[in-house]
Parts: sequence; structure tokens; C-alpha cells
Amino acid sequence: MTIVMADLMEKIVSLAKRRGFVYPGSDIYGGLANSWDFGPLGVQLRNNIKAIWWKRYVQRRHDVLGIETAIIMNPKVWKASGHLGEGFADPLIECRKCHERFRADQIDSSQSCPNCGAHDFTDPRLFNILMKTFLGSVEGDKDEAYLRGETAQGMFVNFKNVLNSNRVQVPFGLAQVGKAFRNEITPGNFIFRTREFEQMEIEYFIPPPTSDGQWQEAFTIWQKEMHDWMALAGITSDLVSEYEVPADERAHYSKRTIDFMFAFPFGTKELYGLAYRTDFDLKNHMEQSGEDLRYEDPETGTKYIPHVIEPTWGVDRTVLAILLSAYREDGERTYLALKPYLAPFTVAVFPLLKNKPDLVAKAKKVYDALRMDFSVAWDDRGNIGKRYFSQDEIGTPFCITVDFQTLDDDTVTVRHRDSGKQERVPVSELHSRLVAAVLLP
Ligand code: GAP
Repeated sequence: MTIVMADLMEKIVSLAKRRGFVYPGSDIYGGLANSWDFGPLGVQLRNNIKAIWWKRYVQRRHDVLGIETAIIMNPKVWKASGHLGEGFADPLIECRKCHERFRADQIDSSQSCPNCGAHDFTDPRLFNILMKTFLGSVEGDKDEAYLRGETAQGMFVNFKNVLNSNRVQVPFGLAQVGKAFRNEITPGNFIFRTREFEQMEIEYFIPPPTSDGQWQEAFTIWQKEMHDWMALAGITSDLVSEYEVPADERAHYSKRTIDFMFAFPFGTKELYGLAYRTDFDLKNHMEQSGEDLRYEDPETGTKYIPHVIEPTWGVDRTVLAILLSAYREDGERTYLALKPYLAPFTVAVFPLLKNKPDLVAKAKKVYDALRMDFSVAWDDRGNIGKRYFSQDEIGTPFCITVDFQTLDDDTVTVRHRDSGKQERVPVSELHSRLVAAVLLP
């Protein structure tokens, strides 16, 4: 069945709240604009996304190391990285009457204010989007700090620590998953653009290139990696495109950027990014900190500042792109065709009838055993059809029903989410079947 794009967003937002993926933030207080909380299913989906990302890029690679750095860093970091300057600022104009502010590039200042109708705007001024905070109990310039605007800087400032404490050789990468904060002027579109979000980033260090071809080679490898990631995550490739970001739109540190765009129902927008950051960050941190951040080539003994290719993924946008890609309507039923290794529940276990103690006891036994290693749902309400409906909607790939035959021959019915097909499986095979189903390719 074709789903009208405009309706799709509404359906996803409503399903997300109803089933406990995403709730409006601070809901009982009337919410806080553009803030969202992740419920039991949302956090499980996020954790699964981050786990497969880590597995693919840290565990399975010999050349990428993980790290987790502080959200609040020495403010000098942000000065050196250029984030306190104009490079990380949005031009805003303010209505002199109602004082509402607008992005200068998104409003025609010769027109009237969309908020109050006045015709009196200020000239554009740059507003830095790093989020300020104060350390300690006294507010003042001395104690001013920032919540990190990207996880990347924690990796650059630890470059020397990593070199000194690990046997690594360039080329190698650092990977980090964590929250970042930006005082976005125009947040919105559900979890697409928020002021608090999570990133999964890799800074991949390469020797200073002697020709464009050298960095382009590493860039192209990561470009392909990002497409492979999207396939792994179940993001529909037909909805993905690449945008070669022109020089005047690139971040201040980038010599080349490709944005991976996703056709969201509200427009085609950036999902992920890939940038060639040159030696911009390490060079500036070396200058401003006075620490030697050069790497010494073990063979030639030459010292140099490595260059950086940076693939970056937003967790929240990944969640949204996955939900939009997985949503299916098939006659009466709605299901999320999530990859088994991403689904919040891998399997659900049902006793055929709630009022038959033997069935319930056996089903509980199966449920308890599988829970040791998998995320398992339990449902004994209503009829089996309703329970399938309910699990389909949250993307549970397998449903197991314990029935009277189980008590005789220790087999159960396994029902598959996407095809609706059922098969009889011995209880003793369930564990290994599920292991195979959730294994990351
Ligand atoms: N370290 C490079 C960097 O931060 P970016 O393009 O500004 O680059 C990387 O951000 C990714 O983080 C984006 O592609 C997007 O997935 C996510 N992201 C950025 N701003 C966001 C926001 N306000 N809300 C949700 N996700 C955001």
C-alpha cells in the first residue's frame, strides 16, 4: 500500500508516543519546545544502533579506537577549534516591536514580521550557537563554559594521550558516541533538529597528503562505508542522495564535505556528513595549547601533523530515518520492518491461553530462558491475532506461541513478522535460531 508522505510523519510521531519510542520532553509540564525523551522501546532502538555502529567501526576494525570524553571542556578548546567565532554562528534579525528573532536567510526583512506584523527589523547579527553554561556557584566570565557542540573536539584534544598510551600508527581513527548541544535557531521536525542530540563520530587520521589524490582516496573509502552503514541500518537507499557541499556552505574547518541527504516527509535534508578537515583542528590545538601534537613516523622519524577525514552520524536522525524506512501498511496491519539486530524486542513469547496454568508455566519457562540473552516481550492478553498486531507495530521480528502441542512434543509456533508465515520449531533450537537472526552481517 502506498503511504502518503505527509501522513507518514504524523503516523510515525503518533506511533512513537503511543508505543513508547519517543515522548515529548517534560510532558506533564506542557513540554519544552523541541525536546524529546526516549521511552523503553526508543532507548532499546538507540542502544542497538549505537551497539552495531561500535561493533562495525571499533570492534571489527584494527585501526579504530574508541574513546569517551567530557561534554564540558576547557573553553580554550572551542576558541582553538573556531567554534566561538563566526564559523559556528547563525545570522539573525530581530523584530524591534515584538523582539522575536528569525534566521536572516529564512526571512525577507523588507516584509512584515510573521509574529506581530510590524515592519521594523534590525540588521542581521551573528549569534553563536554553542550552548553556554556556568561552572560552580558563581556566575561570571571566569566560570563560563560550553556544552560541546560536536563530539569531535574531545578526540582531537586527546590525540596525544592516545598516541602515548596505545601502540597506534597513522593511519588510524578515533571513534566516539555521545551527546552534543547547539543553540539551534530553528529546531523542529520532531527529533530531526534539536538542541540536545547525539552523534557517532570518527576522526580518521592520515599522513599529510602530498597530492589531492591521497586524501581523496581515504575520503572515497569512507563515503562507501557510509552507504554500507545505511544498508546495514535498513535505511532505504532510494531515499538517500549525496550533496556536494559548495565552499561557501561548508563548515569553517572543511576542505570538502559531502552531506548524505534523506528524503524526509518534510523535505530532503542532511542525515549524515563526511568532511575532509585537513590538519585544521590538530594544528590549531597545537598552536593554542603549546603542546606538540605531531606524530612521529616510526620508519622515517619525520614528525608531522596528521590530516583528518571525518565521517559523522547523528543518532536521532538515524532513529527517524530507520522508522520512516521501516514503516509498512499491509491491509489491516501496520508493521516496522526493522533489521532483527535493531528491533527493540527480538522476540515475543505468548501462552496460547491465559487461563491454562500449564501453558502459562511452560511459556514463562521459554520466556525466562530467552531473556538471559535476548530482549523478549511477553503478552498474554486478548487473542493471538491481536498480539501479533501489537508486536508488528513495534517491529518485533519473531513471535513464539506456546500451545497444547508444546506440552506434548516441546515444539512451538514461530511466526515471522514480514511474511506472516508460521513454522513449528523445537524449543531446543530457539536460542541458536535467534543468535543467527541477530548476528550482524
Ligand atoms: N563533527 C562534525 C559535525 O558535527 P555536523 O554536520 O554539524 O558535523 C554531524 O553534525 C551530524 O550530527 C549531522 O549530520 C546530523 O546527523 C547530526 N546533527 C547535527 N545537528 C543536529 C541537531 N541540531 N539535531 C539533531 N541532529 C543533529
